[in-house]
Amino acid sequence: MIRMFSGTSVCRVGLNQKALTKLLSTTIVPEMPPCDHKPGTYEGPDYTKVQAIKKQNIVPCILSYYKKPLLLHEGHMQWLFDHTGKRYLDMFGGIVTVSVGHCHPKVNEAAIEQMNKLWHTTNIYMHPKLHEYAEALTAKLPGDLKVVYFVNSGSEANDLAMLMSRAHTRNFDIISLRNGYHGMNPYIQGATALSTWRYNVPLGHGIHHAMNPDVYQGIWGGSHCRDSPVQSTRKCSCKPDECQACDMYYGQLEEVFKFSLPRGKVAGFFAESIQGVGGTVQFPKGYVKKAFEIVRANGGLCISDEVQTGFGRTGETFWGFESHGVVPDIVTMAKGIGNGFPLAAVVTTPTIAESLGQALHFNTYGGNPIACATGLAVLRVIDEEKTQANSLAVGTHLLKRLAKIRDEFPQFVGDVRGKGLMIGVELVSDAESRTPMQAPHFLEIWEECKDRGVLLGRGGLYGNVLRIKPPMCISKQDADFAADIFRLAIARFAERVARK
Ligand SMILES: Cc1ncc(COP(=O)(O)O)c(C=O)c1O
Repeated sequence: MIRMFSGTSVCRVGLNQKALTKLLSTTIVPEMPPCDHKPGTYEGPDYTKVQAIKKQNIVPCILSYYKKPLLLHEGHMQWLFDHTGKRYLDMFGGIVTVSVGHCHPKVNEAAIEQMNKLWHTTNIYMHPKLHEYAEALTAKLPGDLKVVYFVNSGSEANDLAMLMSRAHTRNFDIISLRNGYHGMNPYIQGATALSTWRYNVPLGHGIHHAMNPDVYQGIWGGSHCRDSPVQSTRKCSCKPDECQACDMYYGQLEEVFKFSLPRGKVAGFFAESIQGVGGTVQFPKGYVKKAFEIVRANGGLCISDEVQTGFGRTGETFWGFESHGVVPDIVTMAKGIGNGFPLAAVVTTPTIAESLGQALHFNTYGGNPIACATGLAVLRVIDEEKTQANSLAVGTHLLKRLAKIRDEFPQFVGDVRGKGLMIGVELVSDAESRTPMQAPHFLEIWEECKDRGVLLGRGGLYGNVLRIKPPMCISKQDADFAADIFRLAIARFAERVARK
């Protein structure tokens, strides 16, 4: 069914009158692409009972998305089904975690086969899947990055990477970037530099947060700083092969060495290849390379947090760090590695790994047979189904569509950025000052997308960035549907603002 959408003039919000007249008379309610999967009947406790359990038996700090939280009970590739059987296009992939598709048949088969053979041994014994998987995973990494420690979550992986960098360098201080997210365990929480995700307790001593090289919201930035098909609309006076913003932000990092580090020495530097929770923030081209150089020159190790950007999500490369032209000393990975199975890993060089031998180190579930069988199947599917190439093609297409929506509604859509299927759309209340859109307005748009069948993530310090990081199996048709729904939600928001 196709319905016409009509509305009144929105010229009071400063939008192009001609474009709006055309938009409002021609916008149709987009139709959801077909799906041949039929979900089973929901047989769990009823919705109100689930809500009551949540209230009584689950810690209140666990937030639920949406005014009326979704009760999801089945997933199939890029689709999710709620308790009523309503279908949603999952554009957030369980927070960037469902990499190859919900309940991907080949991944399910591998996990079930392993489950029927052997669930658990711990890594004090050898078992084939652990070793097959270790070989296959490390083969995906460049240079000397050839030894792996399996753990269960991204926070554990980053905790371990911090310990490794201190044990190896015998330095203590760590640098991470403001607006970065590296996990919630108290040790690594110190490196997470988003105040919304930090508790008022002694957090990770010796951790310094350098100025975030954010070319949209930061002090410096312009229209060709980013490695993305879409640049920021900020004016730029740089020549094509120079980036003054990169130099200025790098200067701020140098200041951390100069002012904060004892004898200028550092144990490790953590950076996401593209910041995830912080709202898909990309750094100026060249920044990470220069940062790695100064860290190494001062005795430290460079740690790439690939928890969100790994496994082909950014399209052009398998790992996000490859786009920065660097080879890290330690790579941490989680989320997409297991397509939703609790699995994470730290990969490093044999020499750095040796340093952990100073004491015993153990993780009960690390390298669990079912986790390893699942991880191995995910790697095979990524190769067989050319998932990375799909991320690049569909992601680039979607980024360009979203950039057109930004140009249509510059008053509300401040920035579109990202690479492959790692996309952010920053909503603002004022284009010129880039003031973050207030939460109630953001929520109107976000909830409307959900009601019309598109699930989007939310991020950034002010919660004003739409995070678009779907399972990497989505098609261009799905991406167009998501973009159409977003455009409709923004147009209707613009209309409401104009009416006031
Ligand atoms: C970049 C990054 N690092 C680390 C983590 C922590 O991972 P986990 O939630 O599995 O502990 C996250 C989680 O969102 C993340 O996005």
